[in-house]
Amino acid sequence: MRDKVVVVTGGFGVLGQAIAEAALAAGAFVALPGREAKSRIAEQERLLVLGGVDLTDFAAVKQAFETVATRFGKIDGLANVAGGFRWQTLGDGGLDGWTEQFRMNLLTAATATKAALPYLRTSQGAIVNVASAPAKKAGAGMGAYAASKSGVLRLTESLAEEEKNAGVRVNAVLPTIIDTPRNRADMPKADFTRWVKPEEIAKAILFLLSSDAKAITGAELLISGRT
Ligand SMILES: NC(=O)c1ccc[n+]([C@@H]2O[C@H](COP(=O)([O-])OP(=O)(O)OC[C@H]3O[C@@H](n4cnc5c(N)ncnc54)[C@H](OP(=O)(O)O)[C@@H]3O)[C@@H](O)[C@H]2O)c1
Repeated sequence: MRDKVVVVTGGFGVLGQAIAEAALAAGAFVALPGREAKSRIAEQERLLVLGGVDLTDFAAVKQAFETVATRFGKIDGLANVAGGFRWQTLGDGGLDGWTEQFRMNLLTAATATKAALPYLRTSQGAIVNVASAPAKKAGAGMGAYAASKSGVLRLTESLAEEEKNAGVRVNAVLPTIIDTPRNRADMPKADFTRWVKPEEIAKAILFLLSSDAKAITGAELLISGRT
């Protein structure tokens, strides 16, 4: 990944930060567009923090990608990590949860991807979308989340086909439960050692973004630790 330029959405969150740190450690340039103003990663030459960007706002996202390309000269990779989870049954929850999950998990990925494509076509770059294991099989209270993450898989499949001739690769990862502070707080009795670690997912994502994965597009990689 040396000297590659990678944009990570959701880079202020737990997994996004782990990907950004791994990419920087591998010698990449990293850009983090998102709503927050400041990253927890130490300021450095190769890191560009683009705060105040709502990833569902195409004009703002397009501007952010223009800034990345101006600063680093190109864009080689996009990791669509932004997203979130809300447990809610259809019978007892409001319908607004469906719109919220759709916007947070799917529209953010579609918006960032549309803004990134002109640059990725030029660089023959790659996209990795973060879906989730429930995209394949939803449990109770997961309808909106699972449907939105299934949408991320369908986006991955269609885009991989659309961009094949343009040389842009598009893959998805499907983590099961990640070892995050929030999950530990929500499930204090769980065996955390079985959960997949953000750094482990980051390694898989960097591989899919790298030229080592140049023969892989349209893949859906389950990352389950020992869950
Ligand atoms: N945690 C798990 O167990 C787990 C399991 C499987 C899959 N995943 C997926 O992995 C990804 C990362 O999870 P995580 O645990 O690292 O979550 P996280 O710490 O909550 O980070 C998610 C990030 O996405 C950002 N985001 C969401 N909507 C946005 C928008 N419209 N504009 C800008 N930023 C937006 C959030 O920013 P704000 O703070 O500004 O909202 C936040 O920084 C998510 O897609 C999640 O669904 C997580």
